[in-house]
Amino acid sequence: MAAETKAKVIDGKAFAEKVREQVAAHVARLQAENGLTPGLAVVLVGEDPASAVYVKNKGIQTKASGMNSYEHKLAADTSEADLLALIDRLNADPSVHGILVQLPLPDHLNSELVINRIDPAKDVDGFHISNVGLLGTGQKSMVPCTPLGCLMMLRDHHGKLAGLNAVVVGRSNIVGKPMAQLLLGDSCTVTIAHSRTKDLAEVCRGADILVAAVGRPEMITGDMVKPGATVIDVGINRIERDGKAKLVGDVHYESAAAVAGAITPVPGGVGPMTIACLLANTLTAACRANGLAEPEGLTA
Ligand code: GUN
Repeated sequence: MAAETKAKVIDGKAFAEKVREQVAAHVARLQAENGLTPGLAVVLVGEDPASAVYVKNKGIQTKASGMNSYEHKLAADTSEADLLALIDRLNADPSVHGILVQLPLPDHLNSELVINRIDPAKDVDGFHISNVGLLGTGQKSMVPCTPLGCLMMLRDHHGKLAGLNAVVVGRSNIVGKPMAQLLLGDSCTVTIAHSRTKDLAEVCRGADILVAAVGRPEMITGDMVKPGATVIDVGINRIERDGKAKLVGDVHYESAAAVAGAITPVPGGVGPMTIACLLANTLTAACRANGLAEPEGLTA
C-alpha cells in the first residue's frame, strides 16, 4: 500500500505561472516607459529531438511574456568558427539581451569555448566562467536558471533561509554547485554530497533543506529524509515501469512525501521553473544593460 502523503506539495507549475506573469508585467512597463523590449537569442546546433522541444518551448514562452525571441538553428556539422562568429554577432547586437546556446552541443564543438565566448552580461544561463566566479564570490552575476528557480521556491516556502542546514546531493556545474552557492548566499549551512558520499543517508537526514540533483531515479528514499524537511527534487528521469514509460525524479516520491514537511513533485515541480527563470534572467539582463532597476524578487 502506498504511504500516506503528509508533506505540503510545492506546486512548481503554479509558481512558474506567477513568475511569468511578473516578468510579463515588468516587460509591459519597460515597453511603455522606456521603449525597451528585451530580446532572447537561442542557438540550437543539430537535430536532437529533446533539445528541439526545449528550444521551441523557450521561444513560445519568451514571446508570450512580450519579449522578442530570436531562434538560430544551425546544421549539426556547423564549424566552431561559424558558431563563434554567430555568438560574436549576437554579443554586438543591442536588441539581444540574452543568449542561450542549447546544450549538449555536437561532439566536434568545444562547449566550454563556446559558452565562454558569450558576453557574460548576456549569459542568461549563468554558465560563463565570469558568472561562475561572480556567484562564487557573492557578487552580482547571472545565475543558472534551475537553481534560481529552486531558490525562489525555497524562499517562498520558508521566508528566511538563514541558519538552516541544506544538503545538495549532486555536484554538477549546472545545478549542484551553483545551488550550493545560492544557499550559502542566503546563510544556510551547506553540504554538497554526491553519489560517492560515505553514509549518504545519514548526511541527508541532517538536512532541513534537501536538494536532489544527482541524476539517479528515485535514489533519495523516505528513510533519508528528516521529518518535516523541505525536499526539492531536480531530477527528471525517464524510466519504464510495468511496461509503461514514466517520468520520475531523483527522490522516491511516496516514501519521501510521507516524512517531509514539503516536497516538489516530478513532473510539475522544479521543471516549469527553469524556463520561467530564463525569462526572468533575460529581463534582468535587459534592465542591467540599460541602467534600469532590476525586477524585484526575480534575481538571487
Ligand atoms: N540543456 C538542458 N538544460 C539546459 C539549460 O538549462 N541550458 C542550456 N543552454 N542547455 C540545456
